[in-house]
Amino acid sequence: MAILIREDEVRELVQMAEAADTVETAFRQLGEGKAFNNPRTRIKLSGEILHVLPAALPEMDALGLKSYTAFRGGIRFLVLLYSAKTGELKALIQAQRLGELRTGGVASVALKHMSRPESSQGALFGAGTMGRAMLEGMVNARKFRQIKVFDIARDRLPAYCEEMSTRLDTEIVPAADASDAVTGADVVVTMTTAKDPVFDGKQLQDGATVVAAGSNLLQKREIDSTVIRRAKRIVVETVDQAQLEAGDLFVPIDAGFLHWNQVHELSDVLSATCKDGRVTERSTSLSQWGWACKTWRWRRKSTRPRRAQVPGWKCRCRECMGIQPEKRRGEMAYELRTGTKMRLGDVKVGEQHKLYEIH
Ligand SMILES: NC(=O)c1ccc[n+]([C@@H]2O[C@H](COP(=O)([O-])OP(=O)(O)OC[C@H]3O[C@@H](n4cnc5c(N)ncnc54)[C@H](O)[C@@H]3O)[C@@H](O)[C@H]2O)c1
Repeated sequence: MAILIREDEVRELVQMAEAADTVETAFRQLGEGKAFNNPRTRIKLSGEILHVLPAALPEMDALGLKSYTAFRGGIRFLVLLYSAKTGELKALIQAQRLGELRTGGVASVALKHMSRPESSQGALFGAGTMGRAMLEGMVNARKFRQIKVFDIARDRLPAYCEEMSTRLDTEIVPAADASDAVTGADVVVTMTTAKDPVFDGKQLQDGATVVAAGSNLLQKREIDSTVIRRAKRIVVETVDQAQLEAGDLFVPIDAGFLHWNQVHELSDVLSATCKDGRVTERSTSLSQWGWACKTWRWRRKSTRPRRAQVPGWKCRCRECMGIQPEKRRGEMAYELRTGTKMRLGDVKVGEQHKLYEIH
């Protein structure tokens, strides 16, 4: 039976260091052709959107998809994790925290492999939900003496920085303005909802690493063309995803001073280490799978009884329903192990707890 892993359990079971390691493994496998990742697709209604991101990591027995609905009432993330060997649904995972760990984990891997090891001054733009995950990823990758945070909602900065300083045991302070954050920074991470560049690329110091992660639409960009012009190397998670939504690269490519053949993938960096490059990072779902898979394993190993029937699904086996096959011969149910639809009357004795229907 598939298990449900709730947000609080993900928070309890998975920490950023393990997330970053799993993300790195996933990208290595992608580079070796052992993993598969399709770009995000979206269905747009009037203002509301359904997003779907499928991927597979057969070596971790992970196959599945992340979906989320972005409606006025909020964003709801869900991962469906299947066995890559049998196609069996292993888990449904509430995926807000999983997404934070994935995104911060990618930033962490990028910084570990591309920022200067002696990096000690950091800057973060965007004191929002994902900004917290980016701080976790930064601190996981490098030992920062100080990180300055800038957000246009300045009034939230003092409390945000205090909370994150305590949580991460690192000096995290509000920046006076964008220029104050960037000046002298070895690492600059942007995780905002901005539509236009959030700092002036001329103010970046030589050798700095930039992780631009907030824009996931062609109409939005957080870094200006100067950052792109000054970059020694531009790296995205996957080029096919970036071509659909990397707003940061769209203007330079359209203007003709950047071409897609100059854009590298993170898996290339992991196979042939590149030093001192700058990275712009776009989202994909791949590493979510390594993630979901590990979360599922941890969940199964846990001593506390956690097995929960998935809400909205009901076991239709003879034992649970008291089914007399001959009386309910015409009713249909889904056999989760194979995913086929079958008649209850055809269920053999011993095939218990395998049949479900969606309410
Ligand atoms: N790359 C990825 O994998 C990935 C993953 C999740 C979310 N995102 C994107 O990241 C962005 C941030 O997500 P979130 O959940 O943290 O949003 P959020 O609304 O919680 O936080 C965004 C913050 O950015 C700040 N901001 C806006 N313009 C700014 C500017 N010019 N300078 C400084 N701060 C500015 C806002 O005031 C806000 O505090 C969104 O666009 C989201 O779609 C990307």
